[in-house]
Amino acid sequence: MGKLDGRTVLISGAARGQGEQEARLFAAEGARVVIADVLDEQGEALAKELGEETALFVHLDVSQEADWQAAVAAAKGAFGRIDGLVNNAGILRFNELVTTPLEEFQQVVQVNQVGAFLGIRTVAPEIVAAGGGTIVNTSSYTGLTGMAFVGAYAATKHAVLGLTKVAAVELAAKGVRVNAVCPGAVDTAMSNPAALDPDADQAASKEAVDGLYRKLVPLGRIGRPEEVAALALFLTSDDSSYITGQPFVIDGGWLA
Ligand code: NAI
Repeated sequence: MGKLDGRTVLISGAARGQGEQEARLFAAEGARVVIADVLDEQGEALAKELGEETALFVHLDVSQEADWQAAVAAAKGAFGRIDGLVNNAGILRFNELVTTPLEEFQQVVQVNQVGAFLGIRTVAPEIVAAGGGTIVNTSSYTGLTGMAFVGAYAATKHAVLGLTKVAAVELAAKGVRVNAVCPGAVDTAMSNPAALDPDADQAASKEAVDGLYRKLVPLGRIGRPEEVAALALFLTSDDSSYITGQPFVIDGGWLA
């Protein structure tokens, strides 16, 4: 028996990275997963691999309200219900606040903050209609602390925690629990953009990233996306049935 048997969970940004691992783990635990992303090719391939009884890919730009409505309609068309949402999609831009162009700031807000808001607004009523369920938002350790050069990102990740707390209070009586994961550095394209660059020296860039976090993180290494997926599973399953409105830091002790 899986921890998510019979449930359908929509995961944004699930074509790669942490969202992909969440989709894989949730499917292994019996869930039907809706893989929602702007990366059509990778998302389609993942859905195909997991099988059409288990997974559906939908094109979703989280900043677009119409995309959310279409994604929910497709999910209900395929699986009949939605019991859970993981607001995982996100983007990172590096800049000092005083040199951040307005357009860049707004772009990060649109994806990380407006995207999470639209996800909650569009999917929560479906979860209520299914009899209750869960929402997991993806914040960050920069949702709890300041860090140079990630002003727009940190602002949105703080906002995600605000959304989490308000949604938890508003939706509790309707049977929806809302929590947030706050990862430290996780080994994905976001922490190592060179991984997506075919011309980059992959071994050197991986060693640079690994070397940095060996020193910075008390547990001596960068996190694995599978480890964040395990936390998201806990928050989506009944194992966390009395927990709502909380941020969960998963950072190898970085913030300790
Ligand atoms: P990633 O860059 O590999 O994955 C992000 C995913 O979001 C990609 O599949 C991407 O296509 C998708 N995405 C981006 N913009 C989108 C949009 N407008 N609509 C729909 N999908 C979109 O990075 P990772 O690490 O898997 O990121 C997942 C989440 O974890 C993000 O919210 C990120 O901010 C957060 N996070 C990541 C950390 C890290 O060190 N990698 C640390 C803390 C938080």
